[in-house]
Amino acid sequence: MGGATGGEERDPTPVVTLWGGRFSTSMDESLWAMSESYSFDAALYAHDIAGSIAHVRGLQVAGLLSEEEATTLVATLEVIRAEFEQGRFERLGSDEDVHMAIERRATELAGPLGARMHTARSRNDQVATTLRLFTRDALREIAHATLGLVDQLVAVGDRYASAVLPGYTHLQRAQPVLLSHHVQAHAFALLRDVDRLADARERANVSPLGAGALAGTSLPIRPAYTAELLGFRESFANSMDAVADRDFVAEALFDVALLGVHLSRLGEELVLWTSSEFGFATLGDAFTTGSSMLPQKKNSDVAELARGKAGRFVGNLTSLLVTLKGLPLSYNRDLQEDKEPLFDSVRQILLVLNALSGAYSSLVVNEVVSAHAADDDLLVAIDVAEALVAQGEPFRVAHERVGRLVGQAVAEGTSLREVVGASEEVAHLTHLFEPGASLRQRRSPGASGPEAAPEQRRRLDEARAHLGARFAVVSQP
Ligand code: ARG
Repeated sequence: MGGATGGEERDPTPVVTLWGGRFSTSMDESLWAMSESYSFDAALYAHDIAGSIAHVRGLQVAGLLSEEEATTLVATLEVIRAEFEQGRFERLGSDEDVHMAIERRATELAGPLGARMHTARSRNDQVATTLRLFTRDALREIAHATLGLVDQLVAVGDRYASAVLPGYTHLQRAQPVLLSHHVQAHAFALLRDVDRLADARERANVSPLGAGALAGTSLPIRPAYTAELLGFRESFANSMDAVADRDFVAEALFDVALLGVHLSRLGEELVLWTSSEFGFATLGDAFTTGSSMLPQKKNSDVAELARGKAGRFVGNLTSLLVTLKGLPLSYNRDLQEDKEPLFDSVRQILLVLNALSGAYSSLVVNEVVSAHAADDDLLVAIDVAEALVAQGEPFRVAHERVGRLVGQAVAEGTSLREVVGASEEVAHLTHLFEPGASLRQRRSPGASGPEAAPEQRRRLDEARAHLGARFAVVSQP
């Protein structure tokens, strides 16, 4: 055999499955190796058990299990949960996925009663339920970690409240900005990510349990009841949609991909800021790496990895979308391919978020260097033009006039300040070249100057608090 079934050696005896009734020969090893998913979906055990407990209670209220039977099954499921938690759960070679493994174990522990647990349920609604529960928790965890990073970014701005750096367009110095304004720009993007995660969570928070294989059941179940037990917002409306829908996975993967892209941009910026060429900041030693050969190196690997991971987030999203695109209704086995991209994106984005949060908490900004870079005469050109506009000159005329002065300064190898000082019509504007003067001018709503900062901060804090509250309510099974 291939030996690729989750790294475990399997018993070479033929695979015996729980659906054996219809089949005369057992499954071929090669199909088994491709088909089994326990090797990765065991991670869902807690969510699967939560779903099964609700299902068992649902069977009880439907009169399909007595209270005593239901209680015994719930206790059995709790025993299995403890086995998983303590690393004692034993997978048998014939356990195809975590759902079958748990049912098989329940039947071992509870005897014939175990065989009643799957009444009015299919793995199709079971796996969709389990995955929605997992996704709901994962989105919350990602949201919390993202808010943690937002807080670290804002804290950098607070630590260096008066720090100034050049704002860039086309990676050319454009206008001076407050460092706090700059880091808060990233914070606003991340808050949108959290908002998206909250929206995705709303849509994921619908129970598919009770849809059966695809068409519901003749048995008297009440899906709304199990939905409520599991803390879902509501129960599915259409059984075929319930088992076929993986939009919630696609949304989660998109949200992670876009968040990952934002983190990649942060990473790229950190690479620039910590380069010798920029020299705007250094990362704490705990968040940098050395070179195996060059003794002097202190590398911003954390930032490069944040940038590098973005590729796999986009890849995971693409992988799922391509899996979904050709599928007829309703459940198709292709859907088993939804899990690994989701697990990978969730695990990796949490790694990046936590490491970047730490990196920003260790960030030391070299305010002198960044201020020096911002203290470039040419960055004041727009302020001179706007001062002329304030005196009544049409903007295009002012732009042209200042453009000529810039050209003259460049041609003569002097500073714009000198050229402005020597030009009769604009000499009265040299005060704009005083350090900080340009920034103080920038007071329009949402602008980069100190006067516009408080209102912006108010909006940031408000959004932060609102989103924190959106994720404060825990949906517990
Ligand atoms: N492991 C399977 C999955 O993740 C469980 C559902 C199997 N359903 C079925 N009809 N074979 O999709």
